[in-house]
Amino acid sequence: MARMSVGEAIAARRSIRRFRPEPLTESQVEALLEAARLAPSAINCQPWRFKVVRDQAELDWLAAAGTRNQRWVGRAPVVFVCCADLSCFVKDQEANLRAIADSGAMPPDMLAEVEGYVARNACAPRDFLRGAAAVNCAIALTQMMLAAVDLGLGSTWVGMFDEPAIQERYGLHPDLAVIALLAVGAPSEAPPPRPRRDMADILLP
Ligand SMILES: Cc1cc2nc3c(=O)[nH]c(=O)nc-3n(C[C@H](O)[C@H](O)[C@H](O)COP(=O)(O)O)c2cc1C
Repeated sequence: MARMSVGEAIAARRSIRRFRPEPLTESQVEALLEAARLAPSAINCQPWRFKVVRDQAELDWLAAAGTRNQRWVGRAPVVFVCCADLSCFVKDQEANLRAIADSGAMPPDMLAEVEGYVARNACAPRDFLRGAAAVNCAIALTQMMLAAVDLGLGSTWVGMFDEPAIQERYGLHPDLAVIALLAVGAPSEAPPPRPRRDMADILLP
């Protein structure tokens, strides 16, 4: 299959909710996770963690209690449960900050400012950290969605889910916040582009 440009993948991506039944290959799963792994993040903290769900009974559970009855989720061959490690988000920031400063990737005059940001994170409430970590996870998930298009796969971001239920089901540590699920599979639908605002509507004066 011919590779796409990033621009082509952005234009071709749709939320896909109907899938062919065949499972993803290991190399497809690895390629999607690799796309996430390479994503940029604040102070290179890389807070994303993934549970890869392929077992049909687990997919059925996600399609019911896990996602508030989004039944189509159970017909996806794989669902990536994307979590953010909030403890690591605080802890690693300090080490990463030092590494970035040492590598010269951050202008020296920014260092004090960013140190202040890291110090504030260290005592920030969970909801604040969750929001900050979610931004990073969103980039990783977006790279996965575009990589899926490149692989001839379809995906849909699932933002409606029951976080406490998923945490309990998978025995997730309380520091692991569930950010989103990504359902992926070979598409069996080819929907037209969904409506978008005009360019003039998204530009502020
Ligand atoms: C943050 C976020 C949460 C979403 N949650 C859901 C969801 O729970 N269920 C679902 O079917 N689609 C969900 N979607 C998919 C959107 O409905 C879809 O992206 C939007 O309608 C535009 O369509 P398109 O992706 O085909 O361009 C979500 C998308 C995003 C970015």
